[in-house]
Amino acid sequence: MRIAVIPGDGIGKDVTAEAVKVLQATGEVFGRRFDLVQLPWSADHYLKTGETLPANGYQMLRDEFEAIFVGALGDPRVADNRHARDILLGTRFELDLYVNYRPVRLLDDRLSPLKDRGRKDINFVVFRENTEGVYVGVGGRFKAGTIDEIAIQEEVNTYKGVHRIIRHAFEFAKANGLTKVCMADKSNAMQHGHALWQRVFKEVSALYPGITAIHQYIDALAMFLVKDPGQYQVIVTNNLFGDIVTDIGGALQGGLGMAASGNIHPGRTSLFEPVHGSAPPLAGKNVANPIGAILSAALMLETLGAADESKAIERAVEAVVAQGQTTTDIGGALGTREVGDCIAKRITKTN
Ligand code: NAD
Ligand code: IPM
Ligand code: MN
Repeated sequence: MRIAVIPGDGIGKDVTAEAVKVLQATGEVFGRRFDLVQLPWSADHYLKTGETLPANGYQMLRDEFEAIFVGALGDPRVADNRHARDILLGTRFELDLYVNYRPVRLLDDRLSPLKDRGRKDINFVVFRENTEGVYVGVGGRFKAGTIDEIAIQEEVNTYKGVHRIIRHAFEFAKANGLTKVCMADKSNAMQHGHALWQRVFKEVSALYPGITAIHQYIDALAMFLVKDPGQYQVIVTNNLFGDIVTDIGGALQGGLGMAASGNIHPGRTSLFEPVHGSAPPLAGKNVANPIGAILSAALMLETLGAADESKAIERAVEAVVAQGQTTTDIGGALGTREVGDCIAKRITKTN
């Protein structure tokens, strides 16, 4: 398997090193070769060369790799976030990675931030639409820098885009024996764009009579995620709302450092990354939690059809969490590298 690895910026570099370590250990245990090709695309590279990614970058990712692994992108020296927009958002758009799959699963009751809520209550997935919404960059500024400035940022919702992500959420529920799909929008205020979400949700849900279709406004959903997360199995929402609620999802798992994600176009080269960002204050200090990145590597293997390898990584992560061999953000006393070592050592073919 040929995999492009983009450590990126800040703690992206720290956590990617551990994900790579665990992938290599997994390859050795299972007798499988992962050809991990590091690409330097990052703020450092952009500031040095003026290039965010090469002209054929997207094509290269799509044609030469079976998957892409990313650490994180974002650096205070690049104030307009240009390189992250090109490398991360650009790849999501150019490779048409329309499914942002973000599982929210609490690994140990001790990590729950909520009183009296544990593993049985915090176990759902979020499907975030990943190619439309306010992320498309349609808009502009008029009279910029003056007190008359007008700034317009359009939200794009297409029938095709809304349909395919909602359809994916229902197909996932069906394939995994789940019985509830909750769609969250803001159709009470956004009467054009989110009326489309309403229409498509009704249309698609009618095709799945065995699955209960629930609608919540996004503000209510944010509240219920904290008050009663146990009601959710599958959540589907738009790009921006999905971004926001999956940070809440990170907190529900014990911290943002625990959360994994896949940016997927089924059947095509897809991109895997932790949900967190580059956390500049933590960079290079051996303190960042590498578990979100390592679980993203497991998601990548699962998506590539290496289910046993993926499960082996998940088991190893659960074991270190159970034993408290973790970084300080989730109550342990180890550094980033030491957690990576512990997880790598625990990779076995069976329990
Ligand atoms: P962030 O996720 O980097 O950090 C938010 C908070 O979570 C920080 O307090 C940090 O201490 C904590 N945190 C995050 N990851 C952690 C980890 N692995 N271990 C321990 N603690 C962790 O979000 P931010 O501060 O809003 O953004 C910083 C930069 O990252 C910005 O440039 C932003 O645009 C970028 N960003 C990139 C991605 C991505 O590449 N996918 C995602 C989010 C943010
Ligand atoms: C994420 C990040 C990105 C997003 C940023 C870095 C543009 O927050 O992947 O969750 O908003 O999609
Ligand atoms: Mn985010």
